[in-house]
Amino acid sequence: MIRLLIFGPTGSMGRLISKLALDDKEIDVVAACDITNIGEELALFAGTTDQNNIKISDVKNLTEIISQTKPDVAVDFTVAPATEKNCLTCAENGIRCVIGTTALSKEFFDKFEELIKKNHSPSVVSPNMATGVNVLFKMASILTNYLADWDIEVIEAHHHRKIDAPSGTALKIGQVISDALDADFDSIAKFGRQRGPNKRKVGAKEEIGIHSIRGGDIVGDHIIMYAGPGERIELKHQAHSRECFATGSIKAIKFIAAAKHNKIYSTNEVLGL
Ligand SMILES: NC(=O)c1ccc[n+]([C@@H]2O[C@H](COP(=O)([O-])OP(=O)(O)OC[C@H]3O[C@@H](n4cnc5c(N)ncnc54)[C@H](O)[C@@H]3O)[C@@H](O)[C@H]2O)c1
Repeated sequence: MIRLLIFGPTGSMGRLISKLALDDKEIDVVAACDITNIGEELALFAGTTDQNNIKISDVKNLTEIISQTKPDVAVDFTVAPATEKNCLTCAENGIRCVIGTTALSKEFFDKFEELIKKNHSPSVVSPNMATGVNVLFKMASILTNYLADWDIEVIEAHHHRKIDAPSGTALKIGQVISDALDADFDSIAKFGRQRGPNKRKVGAKEEIGIHSIRGGDIVGDHIIMYAGPGERIELKHQAHSRECFATGSIKAIKFIAAAKHNKIYSTNEVLGL
């Protein structure tokens, strides 16, 4: 059995992951930490039954909770400042992490990797746990090799509660395309276009446009547009619900519990793509 600690169990992703984890015979949920609804039953948020009768704990007491419940793996879909604090505490204690939170800083990754090596706590970090999106990354890499001279633009749309822009997935798509072009993503990324003169640098090696739409309850759409002379190709992924991210997270939890190398794994590795 994998002893699991869930961060952010009252959030959109946290509730779904809690349900799948509580219903899974290979997972034993031992703790759930949040900043709200402290003392409430986890099962109420997850919409399922819970043999362990776990109550939501205050994340302020994380060190004490870890020593009492001894989790093997922690799953985190919260906000970047929370993830950066809580997952470093987990890695310090040798707990393996599955992190879906986006907009994490480079400083966090540096420190996290150091602790993973020191405390033997391999982890998964992925801006998108959905199988389809990870296949899309592969397809983008292949297509870019054939269409390096064309213009490439990425358009993403998400619900109006989303804090970060562009999405972590759009940034990863930009990185995948840049890697295929052997280009430096930070130098060629163009985030949106303002009113006024805006001549595009022609060709993906010169510029990759990345555009964000925020509205209503859109779960997550990504389009990669390859535009050439007289024709274009669009790769499009749409998440119909958050279930694809939650089921991917459960796969990642099982994968990381058995992982051998002290490093940060990607979803591609979890899915064997
Ligand atoms: N990797 C993926 O597949 C994927 C998919 C969907 C969303 N996301 C990302 O996951 C994150 C969460 O998304 P969401 O829509 O569930 O957000 P949400 O706002 O619905 O939920 C966030 C939860 O985190 C809790 N929280 C805040 N601070 C905390 C702390 N210090 N400790 C513990 N819990 C804390 C909140 O109370 C809330 O329950 C975002 O960064 C989003 O971009 C990733």
